[in-house]
Amino acid sequence: MRILGIETSCDETAAAVVANGQEIISSVVATSADIHAKFGGIVPEEAARQQIKSIIPVIKESLTASSIKEIDSIAITVGPGLIGSLLVGVETAKTLSYLWKKPIIPVNHLVAHIYANWINQNPPPFPALALVVSGGHTDLVLLKKDCVIEWVGGTRDDAAGEAFDKSARLLGLPYPGGPAISTEAEKYISKNPRASLSYFPRPLVEEENFDWSFSGLKTAILRGVQKQDNLKKETPRLAAEIQEAIVDVLVIKTQKAIDKYKPKSFLLAGGVAANKRLTEKFSQVLGEVEFRVPPPRLCTDNGAYIAAYAFYNYKPTSWKEIVPNPNLTITGQV
Ligand code: KG4
Ligand code: ZN
Repeated sequence: MRILGIETSCDETAAAVVANGQEIISSVVATSADIHAKFGGIVPEEAARQQIKSIIPVIKESLTASSIKEIDSIAITVGPGLIGSLLVGVETAKTLSYLWKKPIIPVNHLVAHIYANWINQNPPPFPALALVVSGGHTDLVLLKKDCVIEWVGGTRDDAAGEAFDKSARLLGLPYPGGPAISTEAEKYISKNPRASLSYFPRPLVEEENFDWSFSGLKTAILRGVQKQDNLKKETPRLAAEIQEAIVDVLVIKTQKAIDKYKPKSFLLAGGVAANKRLTEKFSQVLGEVEFRVPPPRLCTDNGAYIAAYAFYNYKPTSWKEIVPNPNLTITGQV
């Protein structure tokens, strides 16, 4: 079965054709990140405008290796995300569904991130604990079996990706902040491999819950930045400190959940899962638990995991019933 997956929840316009939930036939991603970089963060109206420009060329290119006849259904992200961006993908998918007479599979973007770990491999052993760390969300969930999801914990304020993005802005680094901070941090760590990196606080790590809070970290970083006489010179060190603080709290709290739920596998997902330091630290502490993390190009937003998840959570729906939901949660029904 070939599914065309379409993703337009934020600043990426993406389409991919995936066979049987595993084999990527094509995957095309256009991003408007460069435009937002000038403003230090996403400008929703501009993101929506760019979605309109890119959607048809991106879908067209994703269909160069498959005829429309070979496509069995269309998977579309219905939420969460920016309403203007979501509407572009949803209305395009509905139009194509009507014209081509193919069913639509509505997809929860957050759960779909986790299913990047099913691409090119068999489903992981269950129960699986999954941590989704993206630009807008930080969610820890337990998958008892395929598509059966229970909430475990999450952030009380900012998302992990947002913490990277906002910290980068304070340091004068470009959007998206995660890759920029990671590159600067790498410069410092390669020269100082034994540095202790404990300058910033690790909020909530002593608490017996699976929650995170990143907004306090932002204030601490602001103070740390304001103290510097030569910010440019200190940027690699501060970037390494910021990255370590975010990585540490993610790893420490997840480890507590692993001790409690004793999953057979741990699945990392979302844009922040592309962070090398994060995956290194997880691999050091996971022991017997099978660790999966998608390759970086499948961590950030794309159409392939949207199509992959739709294969495993196959709910053909008429175009008339598809509506975007910007506030959809990871356990919410589409
Ligand atoms: O999943 P994603 O592509 O989009 C959302 O659904 O939000 O995640 C984007 C987030 C941004 O906050 C970006 O800074 C972060 O992922 N990110 C990273 C890295 N690559 C992307 N954060 C840390 N290290 C990275 N290498
Ligand atoms: Zn995402």
